[in-house]
Amino acid sequence: MMIIGQLMIEHRLIERMVKVVDKALENAGREGSLNPLDIEAFVDFMRFYADKCHHGKEEGLLFKELAKKDISREHKKIMGDLISDHFYGRSLVDRLVSLNSEYKAGEKGKLTELISVFSKLAVFYSAHIQKEDKTFFIPTMNYFEHKEHSAMLEACKVFDLTSDFSKYQKMVLSLEAALKTR
Ligand SMILES: [Fe+2]
Ligand SMILES: [Fe+2]
Repeated sequence: MMIIGQLMIEHRLIERMVKVVDKALENAGREGSLNPLDIEAFVDFMRFYADKCHHGKEEGLLFKELAKKDISREHKKIMGDLISDHFYGRSLVDRLVSLNSEYKAGEKGKLTELISVFSKLAVFYSAHIQKEDKTFFIPTMNYFEHKEHSAMLEACKVFDLTSDFSKYQKMVLSLEAALKTR
């Protein structure tokens, strides 16, 4: 396996979380309320799984190694866009956190904006994953030699030992189950 294999496995879990968000938003539209705890779980997932674990490997391993190579202008441009996407994603998550705390404190009028930021994040994130999977990950693998692939994959494994990221698998599973029965 190459590093992008691991990154794509992570993309699939993030996509499942995005589906959970879609379902939560559908319920919110129908019930006129949103469960602040679902948002907190989502924020935890985005900050630790999507950002720390997943973007950590993209920025700290793949992009960092690519930056040492003589990559094409097109790939350089996409990589820059992907990094700005990560910044934008973080800012949307921060916005979600502050709206959620206002909503939790009783400001029911924040629901519309909360739903809008939440759905923006879901749409944006799916597109980001598509961009990486379809236009960047596979073509950029050609810049590396066999031993560099092995080294990156090994570094990925070491990175995963730094935290317990497995809890996010369970989180997605239980949110999927909870939303199906609501
Ligand atoms: Fe990314
Ligand atoms: Fe990614």
